[in-house]
Amino acid sequence: MLKHRPEKCKGFNNMKVLGIETSCDETGVAVYDGEAGLLGHEVYSQIALHADYGGVVPELASRDHVRKLAPMVRALLGRLQLAPGDIDGVAYTAGPGLAGALLVGAAFARGLAWSWAVPALGVHHMEGHLLAPMLEAEQPPFPFVALLVSGGHTQLVLVDAVGVYELLGESVDDAAGEAFDKTAKLLGLGYPGGPALAALAERGDPGRFRFPRPMTDRPGLDFSFSGLKTFALTTLREQTAMTAPQDLDRLHADIARAFEEAVVDTLAIKCRRAVEQAGVRALVMAGGVSANRKLRARVDELMANLGGRAYYPRAELCTDNGAMIAYAGWQRLNAGQHEDLAFGIRPRWPMHELAAGA
Ligand code: KG4
Ligand code: ZN
Repeated sequence: MLKHRPEKCKGFNNMKVLGIETSCDETGVAVYDGEAGLLGHEVYSQIALHADYGGVVPELASRDHVRKLAPMVRALLGRLQLAPGDIDGVAYTAGPGLAGALLVGAAFARGLAWSWAVPALGVHHMEGHLLAPMLEAEQPPFPFVALLVSGGHTQLVLVDAVGVYELLGESVDDAAGEAFDKTAKLLGLGYPGGPALAALAERGDPGRFRFPRPMTDRPGLDFSFSGLKTFALTTLREQTAMTAPQDLDRLHADIARAFEEAVVDTLAIKCRRAVEQAGVRALVMAGGVSANRKLRARVDELMANLGGRAYYPRAELCTDNGAMIAYAGWQRLNAGQHEDLAFGIRPRWPMHELAAGA
């Protein structure tokens, strides 16, 4: 359990918000308190459920969220010694994500809020990721550039305040996490591939292969990662044909290393450009891929060289979780935003359509 008192919250009441995340294959629940900070959170990962299929099966994901949500909320409130009457609002992920999975969380959260007679609010999943570093003791100062790197998104965003976002660049094809997952699959690694590929890359030789750094030779802040996956496939095919069976493990590790280096380098080059272009000194990194240790080290070094600082949440808050949704929801509920009883979900939802927040 983490307790802290963010500077921003001083003077506000101790509104407690229950956060619910069900956009993909993690069920996340959390309670955020405006004065005490994050009181607690629980994440249940469906990895084992989807592993046999090599990726997320949407229908199975939805059904599992149905099974897990109520017991998880009950257990969390019990652990925190909170009664339903202690909760002042419910925030849930309304998009982007898998439609069925989002609907489960939205319907559950809305039903709960209605029965507890408290407001409910649909939260943007990527805004949740973007604000997750605010759950740490040292918070990034506005304005900052955020690199959002997850399984579905790779975006550079200029953040002036909560809800004031300017998209600077994004992937024109695969997201960075998607490229990690697909390349991991080529190398025979399980789902989800990102952490498995990163672990394999640790054993790889950094000097054996050099992969391209896509779209870095021209101006701009967009990304393209699908070519790297193809490059990995071509390298794997060519090299496998001339590799003895006992050396295949090493080959896979060397390809993983070259792939990871290329993604990390490309992201770092674009981060540098974005930070210089925006004239800010803080870079926030969030989303599942920001758990990658090499990427963190590279971004730390980059920001130190630029006389600034990189901020990212602890690893467990980089991947999907309820804490970031509780926090983003608290920001907006505390600022007086609310919705009426009718609700919808948005499987596709550009972040620049959000209204300014607190
Ligand atoms: O944010 P997230 O949990 O879910 C989405 O909103 O997509 O991100 C999941 C993505 C997956 O593609 C996963 O392979 C990747 O983050 N990921 C990593 C690492 N940990 C998770 N990629 C590279 N290195 C890691 N250590
Ligand atoms: Zn996510």
